[in-house]
Amino acid sequence: MNLNQRIEDWLSDNKNAFRSLDRPFVTLSYAQSLDGSIALRCDEPLALSGEESLRLTHQLRSMHDGILVGIGTVLSDDPQLTVRHWIGHNPQPIVLDSQLRIPAKARLCCLPDKRCWVLTTVDDQGTVIEGLEITALEGNADGQVCLQRALKLLVHRGIKSLMVEGGASVISAFLKARLVDALVLTISPQFVGGYKAVNDLGKASRCALPKLKPFFSERLGDDLIVWGNLDYGDYAA
Ligand SMILES: NC(=O)c1ccc[n+]([C@@H]2O[C@H](COP(=O)([O-])OP(=O)(O)OC[C@H]3O[C@@H](n4cnc5c(N)ncnc54)[C@H](OP(=O)(O)O)[C@@H]3O)[C@@H](O)[C@H]2O)c1
Repeated sequence: MNLNQRIEDWLSDNKNAFRSLDRPFVTLSYAQSLDGSIALRCDEPLALSGEESLRLTHQLRSMHDGILVGIGTVLSDDPQLTVRHWIGHNPQPIVLDSQLRIPAKARLCCLPDKRCWVLTTVDDQGTVIEGLEITALEGNADGQVCLQRALKLLVHRGIKSLMVEGGASVISAFLKARLVDALVLTISPQFVGGYKAVNDLGKASRCALPKLKPFFSERLGDDLIVWGNLDYGDYAA
């Protein structure tokens, strides 16, 4: 069985075993360099995945009901978040965008088969942007979209599995809130010295730092794939 098939089976088992009705099963998946960089700078993207890893990413997209990124990634990369390098369905695209900064010309606004869901804290019923479905939610203490409320809304809308692709602020926020169930990480064997995937995880004690347990790793093309389940210890957040 090849790596793609093994990761697919592992992820399916995990999704099937997930029981919460309050939120979707969350898979975090992104590509980083050896030093943990995901981009050159926060507004300067860098293609890190090789051909095979890119195919794996698209396979993973096809295995989730929804795919979520932060507005920083939309402004920097203008992604489509569709499945193009694998055969499968496009997940529902979702953007966290507290201040409703998404440009009307973003590629996510003109997807052929889906209206992108934008979760914001701006309660302006009058805002209509073609191609988007905008939902206002109460913000968190920092005035950003509250992840717990966002995930509850998503599961009620039928998103039972969610792939979180980045960027760094969103990756860190999901890890800090202990809302990641599984990780599939592509490591490209190069140093970049750029914008790091994970920043502040709060003042958790050492024993409460998120770990992968169990974890697996295997080479795929020129990259290393590391995958596994998140273990947050028994420390109460
Ligand atoms: N290598 C990879 O796999 C990969 C994948 C994705 C992205 N990237 C890179 O990542 C970079 C962008 O990362 P980024 O950190 O600047 O932006 P980001 O994580 O994509 O988006 C961050 C923004 O999301 C909004 N947001 C809303 N609610 C939030 C919440 N609860 N927690 C955190 N953020 C929330 C905030 O803006 P508001 O306050 O305005 O809402 C925040 O500034 C780009 O360079 C891109 O190329 C790399």
